[in-house]
Amino acid sequence: MKATSEFQFPAGFLWGAATASHQVEGGNTRNDWWLYEEAGRLPHRSGEACRHYEWFERDFDLARSLGHNAHRLSLEWSRIEPRPGEWDEAELEHYAAVIAALRERGMEPVVTLHHFTNPAWFAARGGWERADSVRIFARYVTQVAARLSGQVRFWLTINEPSVYAKYAYVTGDWPPLRRHAWLAAARVLWHLGRAHVAAYRILHVHNAATMVGLAHSTPYVVPCDPGSRADRAAARRRDFVLNVLPFRLLALRPAAVLDFIGINYYARQVVRAGRGPGTAQLFGTECRENHHGPPRSFTPLGWEVYAPGLQAVLARFGRFGVPLMVTENGIATNDEAERSRYLESHLQALEAAVRGGCPVLGYLYWTLMDNYEWTEGRNARFGLVALDFATQQRTPRPAALLLQRVAETNIAGPAGGCQYPVPGPDGFGSAEK
Ligand code: FCB
Repeated sequence: MKATSEFQFPAGFLWGAATASHQVEGGNTRNDWWLYEEAGRLPHRSGEACRHYEWFERDFDLARSLGHNAHRLSLEWSRIEPRPGEWDEAELEHYAAVIAALRERGMEPVVTLHHFTNPAWFAARGGWERADSVRIFARYVTQVAARLSGQVRFWLTINEPSVYAKYAYVTGDWPPLRRHAWLAAARVLWHLGRAHVAAYRILHVHNAATMVGLAHSTPYVVPCDPGSRADRAAARRRDFVLNVLPFRLLALRPAAVLDFIGINYYARQVVRAGRGPGTAQLFGTECRENHHGPPRSFTPLGWEVYAPGLQAVLARFGRFGVPLMVTENGIATNDEAERSRYLESHLQALEAAVRGGCPVLGYLYWTLMDNYEWTEGRNARFGLVALDFATQQRTPRPAALLLQRVAETNIAGPAGGCQYPVPGPDGFGSAEK
């Protein structure tokens, strides 16, 4: 294993973990997920999750003690706007306190406005399928910006538009559980793109120096047999839908409405031309065999561990000409040696990308502590910190200490690599396009 002191990242690099409101807060009774969970239409209940809504200060103390100088969280829209057009001041106050708590600990907040969950009333009226969803989301963003824009430098508007559209409207695993609703998925993706643009503008009106991006899921998609035209075509179509389309839908020049891009990277997808029904025809199936060189390793969720893919996606998205931030990267496993290896190999890939001139602002591991992992419930353990759900006891894992060592040796570490000025500690920085 590489000595942690050998890692070199630019001074001011952001180090931390990413979370999402519904996965950690507990008691999010007013969103669509909660309703489906309670109605038994989803396999697991979020319940009290990690009780982070009450315990955020303790959790931030822990993260700070683990060397983090940044933290990604999401605002729970359904708390802030429990009924259409009604604003819960106490909840806005809560999030102001959460952000202040990070700042007091010297941790940079990276704040997501929408991370998969919707207010129940919004879902009931048709959710993101309706054209006026964009106006309604913009109204929420206006309230949030008025209250919080002075405290937040990095905003992520929407988390993983392509993943949301896929699981909610194509596979039917997430509310509203629609299957093969292709037209609806396309409308949803389009509206999420419009919503991003609207939020981008609103946040800039409130604070011209703010940095607004979206968090994009970036699987590294390659053909199984590069010599096979059919494999290449399937991989290209899959890659187009997952990695290209969400940006094409934003604007003619996506960089005009993105100050940075959040990169959520987990795995490689090796694509073989489609056999079988439905989507396989178009987008192929994933090859899991071992004829691609070195033996492959898959996580218990079936995701391929492939660190060079992180470097590849960073190089690719770096060409947009705006800074990048790794806003999610991590592994669900019960094998702590494997988790540490995953983290280390991905930090090496990240470092190589940065050395190569890729403008990366920071690295946020998914996730701080084990949480409610959507349809996997409590079974998928992604945490740097182990959570005993019965006692709510938090215990840092070896990977947390590894990240801590790298972060602590690099927070004030040598500059280099990053072509973009990283925003300074006071006042908003001047990251340029
Ligand atoms: C991402 C989601 C995040 C979490 C991780 C494992 O797609 O943004 O909420 O579920 O995957």
